[in-house]
Amino acid sequence: MRAVQLTEFGGPEALRVVELPVPEPGPGEVLIRVARAGLNFGDTHQRRNQYIAKHALPVVLGGEVAGVVERVGPPMQGSGRSAGQRLHRAGTAEGSTGPLQGSSGYAAQSLHPPEFEAGERVIALLRTGGYAEYAVAPAARTFRIPDGVSDDDALALLIQGLTAWHLWRTSAHLAEGDSVVVHSAAGGVGSLLTQLAKPMGAGRVIATAGSEERRAKALELGADVAVDPGTDGDEMPGDEAAADGPGAPAAGDQRDPNAGPLTERLIAANDGAPVDVVLDAAGGAVFAQSLAALAPFGRIVAYGNSTREKVALTNGELLKESRAVVGFWLMHLLDRRDMLEAPLADLFARAARGELRPRLGGTYPLADAARAHEDLEARRTTGKLTLDPAD
Ligand SMILES: NC(=O)c1ccc[n+]([C@@H]2O[C@H](COP(=O)([O-])OP(=O)(O)OC[C@H]3O[C@@H](n4cnc5c(N)ncnc54)[C@H](OP(=O)(O)O)[C@@H]3O)[C@@H](O)[C@H]2O)c1
Repeated sequence: MRAVQLTEFGGPEALRVVELPVPEPGPGEVLIRVARAGLNFGDTHQRRNQYIAKHALPVVLGGEVAGVVERVGPPMQGSGRSAGQRLHRAGTAEGSTGPLQGSSGYAAQSLHPPEFEAGERVIALLRTGGYAEYAVAPAARTFRIPDGVSDDDALALLIQGLTAWHLWRTSAHLAEGDSVVVHSAAGGVGSLLTQLAKPMGAGRVIATAGSEERRAKALELGADVAVDPGTDGDEMPGDEAAADGPGAPAAGDQRDPNAGPLTERLIAANDGAPVDVVLDAAGGAVFAQSLAALAPFGRIVAYGNSTREKVALTNGELLKESRAVVGFWLMHLLDRRDMLEAPLADLFARAARGELRPRLGGTYPLADAARAHEDLEARRTTGKLTLDPAD
């Protein structure tokens, strides 16, 4: 089969098309003929060996696929339960249409993956191996695609959708009426976060995006206001209303050592009040200046580090302002089918109701994976990118 392999870490050119044997599904696994492989910003970190989880080389990148079950592996020995599955907190079942619960209420339902059959359309979460014509996935991380949902839409709701869902529910503990900041609001995760914010209970929704066009997109997606995420003090197009708006802090107001122009812009965009929740994937100064915009008992969730800049924090800074910093990494859900299945069903149901429209950014031939990585890193893309192994 054709696959895109990384034999050394580096730039996009390190991604090379090679011929590899079709992998064999082991016990509790399924072999999927890949129709679409999802691309994620995190893949670019992996390619540079700057990801939180390190990979041994050679490696085929790709953490999610949509396709058709080709073959099912032999049954698991013993309990019949797939490897890595555990029973977790029992609680209120979280159905696709019922009221949504917080992290204390994950369903104790469907912990056993369904028995898949050859020919079924599925999506699957992988650790690696997606950029290929065939991929092996644990049945526990494989899910049927509902009729009427395209492979691309299903993929746009998998990693990005589950991330958005859990950011609001599990990590930010979104409460009714909370004022929220969604950074990178025109991106894959950001556009889903923006669309889900009000249906999930948010009050004022403040989006940030790096261009006027992307800010307009964020407003279309449901944000009340969209501002520039710039942190360096240069006034940028689109800033004027927020910077001069009601509650803009007086010059020289030293509230917080982390405060900066973005802090001021976010507070001004919230009619002069500090905000309850910030969701940040940029890191660096965006993170630090957003932290300074939080109200007491406000929460900032760090779920990405696009800027590749680190931030140092002291416990004193947190306690002095009663602020919470929360991290989120989808990897911790991989062995939690109870935290995957119901949220995914909820996302599909919201998409079917038209509440959620996954944004698609384009499909590249498998052999053009390097070009797709270049476009992602250059911030040229909006929405979900996929690879087509048949092209
Ligand atoms: N924690 C997790 O489990 C998890 C899961 C999925 C994704 N993520 C992370 O979430 C982030 C967004 O992912 P995505 O799939 O939505 O990607 P995406 O669609 O490519 O969007 C990325 C967004 O980040 C912004 N961006 C790109 N490069 C940047 C840079 N150098 N500095 C600051 N902002 C930059 C851009 O927004 P503007 O140009 O409009 O500002 C862009 O809209 C990534 O950092 C990704 O690694 C984390």
